[in-house]
Amino acid sequence: MSTFRYWQTPRAGNMARLTLHTGNLPALAGNHVRIKVHAVGLNFADIFALTGLYSATPQGAFTPGLEFAGEVQEVGPQACGFAVGDRVMGVTRFGGYTTVIDSEPDYLIPLPAQWDYAQGAAWPAQTLTAWYALTHLGALQPDQQVLIHSAAGGVGLQAMKLVQALGAHPTGTVGSEEKASWLRQQGFADVLIREADFARQLQRDERGFDLVLDAIGGKVQSASFDALNPMGRLVVFGAAEFTPSHNRPNYLKAAWRYLRRPRYDVMKMISSNRSVLAFNLIWLWEQKGKMQALLEELQTIPLPPPHVGRRFAFEDAHEALALLRSGQSMGKVVLETAPGLE
Ligand SMILES: NC(=O)c1ccc[n+]([C@@H]2O[C@H](COP(=O)([O-])OP(=O)(O)OC[C@H]3O[C@@H](n4cnc5c(N)ncnc54)[C@H](OP(=O)(O)O)[C@@H]3O)[C@@H](O)[C@H]2O)c1
Repeated sequence: MSTFRYWQTPRAGNMARLTLHTGNLPALAGNHVRIKVHAVGLNFADIFALTGLYSATPQGAFTPGLEFAGEVQEVGPQACGFAVGDRVMGVTRFGGYTTVIDSEPDYLIPLPAQWDYAQGAAWPAQTLTAWYALTHLGALQPDQQVLIHSAAGGVGLQAMKLVQALGAHPTGTVGSEEKASWLRQQGFADVLIREADFARQLQRDERGFDLVLDAIGGKVQSASFDALNPMGRLVVFGAAEFTPSHNRPNYLKAAWRYLRRPRYDVMKMISSNRSVLAFNLIWLWEQKGKMQALLEELQTIPLPPPHVGRRFAFEDAHEALALLRSGQSMGKVVLETAPGLE
């Protein structure tokens, strides 16, 4: 195989610019492993990168995609830890929407034997995010009450499962009745469908929360902060309220939301004993040692394979992205490459 296929946009700003290309494979660098990609995991960050609303977006042309799973096809002479034929999953700082990827071994982990490639592509980014938010920043303890927004989504569902596995109590919030009943069928008793007056809705729940995971922002976030118990933590890692409803952002709407974003007064936080933490895992890409340590932790996380909600053919990336952007998807959205296309 000497060619491969990849999605690329000439520049961020309009999702419609993303097109499928065929290219010739370069020579493999000595310290890299070449992987035939079978599945690509979609992330909400892909939408923000393509629309130019993500600060980490590369300048000029780029291929989106942060995670993948596939089979090792070739190993450079200085690359160790993997052999031809190994099934792997991995993370990449962009470049994931491709049928072949060259990766340093540090960003790869073995795919568990019973998992299919789509499950592998659905695992690293969302599980790392949920794990890091709950345990590293959230300092979750058994029996604590945890509020998780977008609980039927990729990160949210992993967070719900992790909270249960760690002996604490998850309450999920979602945007629709369909998601709520699906979550209840999965064994999560406490699920809220967010209403217009979300603050009042939370006030009706007398337990209060010790930890909140938020990637929506706006009023949902500030109401959640107000519902924290003393010593409670709000962990913020996204802002889905800025999601464009079309291929291009509405900059006026985005600016208005930005101006009205929640702000927190540190002096008041001291007296109310509540705190706010935030992170972006993409920063870890350059911190190889830290990333490797987290990937090692990832392999010890006590969870079943992730839920793949929808599988699309590699060629149908636009349809897959439209579903994710709509806010209606449940679990992870994955692209699968068909054999023989490369
Ligand atoms: N900082 C990091 O390192 C990091 C890493 C991974 C992911 N993230 C963030 O975590 C969040 C979840 O990522 P994901 O890939 O797993 O996505 P996802 O949760 O599968 O999908 C995003 C969800 O956001 C909710 N949402 C709220 N307002 C929305 C709007 N205006 N338009 C569309 N959806 C809206 C929807 O669920 P409901 O309506 O049911 O709430 C939607 O399903 C994203 O915000 C992402 O950027 C951050």
